[in-house]
Amino acid sequence: MSLENLSSILECPRSKGSISIKNGLLHSENAGISFDSYLGIPWFFREPEIQLYQWQNSLKSLVFYLQGQTTILEQQINIADLGTKTKNRLLLLKEAIHFNAEKLFEILEPLIASGEVSKPISQKLVLEKLPHTQHLNSYFHTLFRDWSWATQESHQFSEQVISLFKNEKPKNIVFLGSGASRLSLDVHNYFTPELSLAMDINPLLFFCAKKVMGGEAIEFYEIPIAPLLLKDCAVKQNLSYKGVAPQNFEFIFSDAVNLPCKPKSLQAVVTPWFIDIVNQDFSKLAKKINHCLEKEACWINYGPLGYDNFKAQSYSKEELEEQLVNSGFKIENISIFEMDYLVSPHSSQSRREKVLGFCARKEKDAKEPPHFTYLPKWIADANEPIPRTEIMEQVQIRNQVAYELLNTINGKRSRKDIVPLMVNHYGMTQEMAEETLITFLINYYERRV
Ligand SMILES: C[S@@+](CC[C@H](N)C(=O)[O-])C[C@H]1O[C@@H](n2cnc3c(N)ncnc32)[C@H](O)[C@@H]1O
Repeated sequence: MSLENLSSILECPRSKGSISIKNGLLHSENAGISFDSYLGIPWFFREPEIQLYQWQNSLKSLVFYLQGQTTILEQQINIADLGTKTKNRLLLLKEAIHFNAEKLFEILEPLIASGEVSKPISQKLVLEKLPHTQHLNSYFHTLFRDWSWATQESHQFSEQVISLFKNEKPKNIVFLGSGASRLSLDVHNYFTPELSLAMDINPLLFFCAKKVMGGEAIEFYEIPIAPLLLKDCAVKQNLSYKGVAPQNFEFIFSDAVNLPCKPKSLQAVVTPWFIDIVNQDFSKLAKKINHCLEKEACWINYGPLGYDNFKAQSYSKEELEEQLVNSGFKIENISIFEMDYLVSPHSSQSRREKVLGFCARKEKDAKEPPHFTYLPKWIADANEPIPRTEIMEQVQIRNQVAYELLNTINGKRSRKDIVPLMVNHYGMTQEMAEETLITFLINYYERRV
């Protein structure tokens, strides 16, 4: 029943053709693909193998990072004359990292069990590249907020989003970038639509959310950013859900900026903490959402405008209002809310954010924007000239200096030996050579080269 429900609103992310069900999987007849599913969640991408490759790689990087942290901790544990409390803290952190690494493998088993995907050719990869900000442990702490902390934060989040809906009674709701998904579940439980669809790309967040909503408890250590007390340095948390497993609530792995839904198939779209973390221009995202909404259906947004300030597309509230109208929406309500953000009971640091909430109703059809790729044309298209910028000049000089300096370092020479080589080679003054070398070594030490 649930797959049928889903297929009625989906279109093929590759061909835009209709979706049927074949052998228990979502299937696109005209693209000739059946979309695998992991833990019962369809892997619904234009290039499913390339996405799988990237998330498997993300797991390798995460394991590598955790191994690095373990090595640092081991070095610290071996420092002579450590106090007992200090040693125990370090040992606990090491245990926490080990535990989390094992748990990650356990949770991500469905992705690993499908076998290692070989590296796709670069020309295909550039078209499907995930932004570097999107990796397995992006937003990891939202799992604790949603399923573990005994605080009101996620409740407040859901209440404010529900208040934006006004008197809607949507038959279907799609949540873009649903993440750890407590909000999506709360909104679903409030409106009880015929279908709620949570869409995201992150397997760790979705596998945890699905298991927890199904009644499973998952343990992970929370390692807060800034603990004050010894007991807060690493806290074993239990992710769990006390309610009844939801009916008509589905997950899908898919790229929400290229929302793979049929035109005019949706009655509500919710973007919780989403619009500013994607690289797509807001006006294009707005037109894409418009394209998938029925007439008079609504788009609920809630989240910050945490853009990188200096870009033309880092829009303010007033600019977004203009873009919404230009994209066929009427703004019914637009307000600034305040909310706590990731206020862990175990950290001394926390955030309180002002966020923008709106309910925009589709009035007119907007033209569907072209498929969005994260990388610019001059990387994605082999025939496009690559612009030469001032930053490239600086990178070139820096790399040239780094290359030549690294050639002089052989494990025996000191700064005193290398400076005269630089003076001779570059015709630099002694002082300039010293400054260049010291700056390079400090940057290397601080891992900035
Ligand atoms: C800031 S988090 C917000 C998560 C959740 N809505 C919340 O408020 O806790 C952004 C979410 O968007 C997801 N995401 C990023 N790019 C995406 C894309 N292209 N398609 C679908 N989800 C995406 C991330 O994996 C993450 O779960």
